[in-house]
Amino acid sequence: MEFRPTKNSEVDKWKEVSLVYNSALKEIGTRLEILNDEFQHVHKYNPIEHIKSRIKSSESIVKKLKKHGLESTIENMVEHVNDIAGIRVICSFTSDIYRVAEMLERQSDIKVLCVKDYIANPKPSGYKSYHLLVMVPIFLSNRVVDVKVEIQLRTVAMDFWASLEHKIYYKFEGNAPEYIKTSLVECANMVSALDDQMMQLNTEILKLSNEDQWDYLTED
Ligand code: GTP
Ligand code: MG
Repeated sequence: MEFRPTKNSEVDKWKEVSLVYNSALKEIGTRLEILNDEFQHVHKYNPIEHIKSRIKSSESIVKKLKKHGLESTIENMVEHVNDIAGIRVICSFTSDIYRVAEMLERQSDIKVLCVKDYIANPKPSGYKSYHLLVMVPIFLSNRVVDVKVEIQLRTVAMDFWASLEHKIYYKFEGNAPEYIKTSLVECANMVSALDDQMMQLNTEILKLSNEDQWDYLTED
């Protein structure tokens, strides 16, 4: 059953919300770590570079509700704000993003609510990432609740671009001069070219090391 706050006072409701969303971040974080460890065990490399997670600040939640013309209540927050719990997965290569996302999507108790592939279809700003909105079950003492988590998967290079673009966006409050926007799109194209070339290089290296292994195995 989808999570809904049960307490009476607003303070207790907020505490309940924090507890449940924090638990959801831990749950997804652990699942991702397990996938990464197993991948290391089987394929001898880590598809995940690092993971960052955060609970959206109450100020940002209120701002988002206002933007959608909704009253700032805890019920509205839980129902309408999909990224209260957010987790960012930074991968080495674009192929790793699809691999990790698929492994998570296949887990039988995870419900995928929405997929946005901004790698195949970048935003006009140049933004690239793979977004997954999922519901994960959290086992509380007397009930199981499904909690929404927004997962953003990107490469190190995409993350570098997104953090700079985010700073610029805030600095100009969304109205950056045209030449800066154009320059950012150019940088985004360079990021894509870099990611493609690095992935190709990695494929070549893997091929070579497999051949080495084969030479070694067939030596005697
Ligand atoms: P909000 O943008 O959060 O209102 O949600 P949405 O439903 O429009 O989802 P969307 O997939 O567009 O974006 C969700 C999140 O992705 C944002 O909160 C950012 O963290 C990130 N994001 C989306 N677009 C951009 C972008 O152009 N630049 C940067 N730096 N981040 C972006
Ligand atoms: Mg948006």
